[in-house]
Amino acid sequence: MRRRRRTRADVATTQENPLLEGLPLAQTPEPCVLTIFGASGDLTKRKIFPAIYALAFRRLLPENFAILGAARSDWSDEEFRHNMEAAVREFGRDAFREDVWNRLAEATSYIPLSEDEQAMEKLASSLTELDEARGTMGNRVYYLAVPPAAMPQLAQALGKLRETEGWTRLIVEKPFGRDRASAHELNELIWTYFAEDEVFRIDHYLGKETVQNMAALRFANGIFEPIWNRQFIDHVQITVGESMGIEGRADYYEKAGAIRDIFQNHMLQLVALTAMEPPSDFTAESVRNEKVKVLKSIHTPGPKHVVRGQYGRGYVEGIEVPGYREEPSVDPGSMTETYVAAKLFVDNWRWADTPFYVRTGKRLPRRETTIAIQFKRAPHPPFAEAAAEELRPNVLIVHVQPDEGVSLAIGAKVPGLGVKLRTVHMDFVYGGAFHVELPEAYERLLLDAMRGDATLFTRADEVDEQWAIVDAILAFWQRDRPAFPNYPAGTWGPPSADALLHRDGRSWRHH
Ligand code: BG6
Repeated sequence: MRRRRRTRADVATTQENPLLEGLPLAQTPEPCVLTIFGASGDLTKRKIFPAIYALAFRRLLPENFAILGAARSDWSDEEFRHNMEAAVREFGRDAFREDVWNRLAEATSYIPLSEDEQAMEKLASSLTELDEARGTMGNRVYYLAVPPAAMPQLAQALGKLRETEGWTRLIVEKPFGRDRASAHELNELIWTYFAEDEVFRIDHYLGKETVQNMAALRFANGIFEPIWNRQFIDHVQITVGESMGIEGRADYYEKAGAIRDIFQNHMLQLVALTAMEPPSDFTAESVRNEKVKVLKSIHTPGPKHVVRGQYGRGYVEGIEVPGYREEPSVDPGSMTETYVAAKLFVDNWRWADTPFYVRTGKRLPRRETTIAIQFKRAPHPPFAEAAAEELRPNVLIVHVQPDEGVSLAIGAKVPGLGVKLRTVHMDFVYGGAFHVELPEAYERLLLDAMRGDATLFTRADEVDEQWAIVDAILAFWQRDRPAFPNYPAGTWGPPSADALLHRDGRSWRHH
């Protein structure tokens, strides 16, 4: 078999910059202007701009490229650049290099978005000017990093702007709507002006390396898929745990809660990726077709199978922290949940009767996102009961973060003359195997959107199915008022979350 010859360009870039390893080469997007709406916001500062810098650092941005920040704040170009430089220095994962930054700063400008009618006209003329100055050929990426309430009006205004000769892509931050009906409305509005393949709905979990590795693990290996079903798997546990609180985002979080913030999107996507059938290829349509089938098959959970919680005062990692109701700008009688656990069933041949226990919460003891596949016990271990008392069933754990990797718990004989069995772990750790730092999710997602690849973005029908499940839960939540707070910060959630598994004779991992 002939191997592709390494071109001079490959050699030059990898030698110049060994960090290129691990990211795709030769896939630089076409010239374009990336306009970020919500440019003065937290997400731009913490995630989007540092990700753009990381792409610039690795020379993955097009030669003819411009970034236009747009927001209400009355900043000048200089102020925006200054603030973004500070953001890159604080939140970037790479060393700050003057030459990289200067090139990026040169491509960066800002436009204050006034409330008046002329705002969009001004934006349009700035974009045309950028096309001329930077050779961006009328190609547009609009990144809507604005609060949900501002989304519809902005999408519509941008739709009306569409008259350039190049292509247009719309990146829409989560949450997409606040229930099924509003998501539907937002889609209808977007589709008036944009085709579905021009819309990139963000769920940044899909950009995480370890989440993508789920597909590699399952479909690039012959040994897992044959046992990836109800016959061999006892149950699945998915944890999206955070030790941090709401970080000053009360305005947003009070209206969202854990169910809209994490469960509706990140959590259900993790379930879909774990449960999906192998797609026939790795194109956006094939992958999303398979995921949506899982989402459609999830049985709407009843009230007994969903637990909600809100943290009270407590200690996280040794530090005393306030309760949710004491956080700045949170209603002192707030009924917003900061924790959700649920028992889900995927009603199909592969998974019937196999519970997926999922939980997410703020102010848990540590940051941990894991997918644990708990296999059934060996049917007939020929060992004495006493020999095997420390033996647990096999578990395959995908460590999404931190300590990214995969580990398999297996039974092994304790060295010595007698027979004693214990559980040990076979570990694959990214850092050890590849010696590269993992890219941030937003780097991959920005690059893919600029290249028009929607595989790692959620399609309208997925979002719709996700909301259908959440709407059903919200409907029964309206009927009662739990006694909040019901878990102290720094613990693994309310006792009812433990009871959810104990009733089935199981328990959450690691307590
Ligand atoms: C965001 C949520 O989508 O995901 C935040 O809005 C949450 O509340 C964050 O903290 C978690 O992301 P990560 O990548 O740190 O796990």
